[in-house]
Amino acid sequence: MKTPVVVLISGTGTNMAALVYAAKHPDCPYEIVLVASNNPDAPGLILASAEGIATFAHPHTGLKRAEFDAILDAEIRKSGAQYVALAGYMRLLSPEFIANWRDRIVNIHPSLLPAHKGLHTHEAVLAAGERVTGCTVHVVTEALDDGPVLGQTEVAVIDGDTPETLAARVLIAEHQLYSRCLAGFVAAATGPEALIAQVRARAVALPEADEVTSHGMPCWGIIKGKKFAYVSNDHHGDGKVALLVKISGVEEQATLIENDPDRYYRPPYFGDGWVGIRLDLGDNDWDHIGEWLARSWRAVAPPRLTKLMSIADEF
Ligand code: GRF
Repeated sequence: MKTPVVVLISGTGTNMAALVYAAKHPDCPYEIVLVASNNPDAPGLILASAEGIATFAHPHTGLKRAEFDAILDAEIRKSGAQYVALAGYMRLLSPEFIANWRDRIVNIHPSLLPAHKGLHTHEAVLAAGERVTGCTVHVVTEALDDGPVLGQTEVAVIDGDTPETLAARVLIAEHQLYSRCLAGFVAAATGPEALIAQVRARAVALPEADEVTSHGMPCWGIIKGKKFAYVSNDHHGDGKVALLVKISGVEEQATLIENDPDRYYRPPYFGDGWVGIRLDLGDNDWDHIGEWLARSWRAVAPPRLTKLMSIADEF
């Protein structure tokens, strides 16, 4: 399943188009589910619609930054997008929006950051007589054109370049760079190793829990005691990444599967006391996963440990 992404644009949207076309490749780990703009006349919206992608446009005039961003945020959440890609989005995002989407917003900038932040980068490069410029994809933080760099491409300046000729050439490099960086970023955060790391962090935080490997699967148990969680990763080639935890029995298993058959399943070889919870659907609620782990831990922990937990719960 591909990770859903929204692209925010204000204008032409050629970087958005590059992301859209790259996403059509079956190996691309993301898909564009929404293109949103603060400019209803942004030409990129027409291209997105023609490609069958949902669009949203709302002028920001007369709205406070945080008000506009709240409208945007609601629309993005409705779309199911998990990541935000800025592509020529000419508005600063509010600190609230950035905090809500921390480590899930990326941007492309037409210079080799940290050189030439802000606008008019090509003019600045030419005025400084630099021989090399380029483009940068980075994670968005509160500071403008800052944040961890995901990738850069150098572009040579040619004698006689004008800001326009240079911009056009840098744009070609941007179109190549953006999709690669977004794909790598999304895959690193949503691939099996990242999912296992999320489970691990929560499982080993439980009292007297440790990790071992069983039948090739990472699994967590009480030290010298029973196991309470496994991560199944493409087990027998089933293509799924899932957490297996203990449940009360066949009835609960059946109810979970009936209510959400895409997410829950009966794990083969584990029987009625376990349920499989898919982690590869792109919409994990990690607090909820943490609760599943704690509950499963309780189901196998010896009384001397569960008693301690019950006492702690009362405070
Ligand atoms: C690109 O140069 C991008 O780096 C900058 O704005 C421009 C957008 O171009 N942030 P487009 O709308 O993607 O064609």
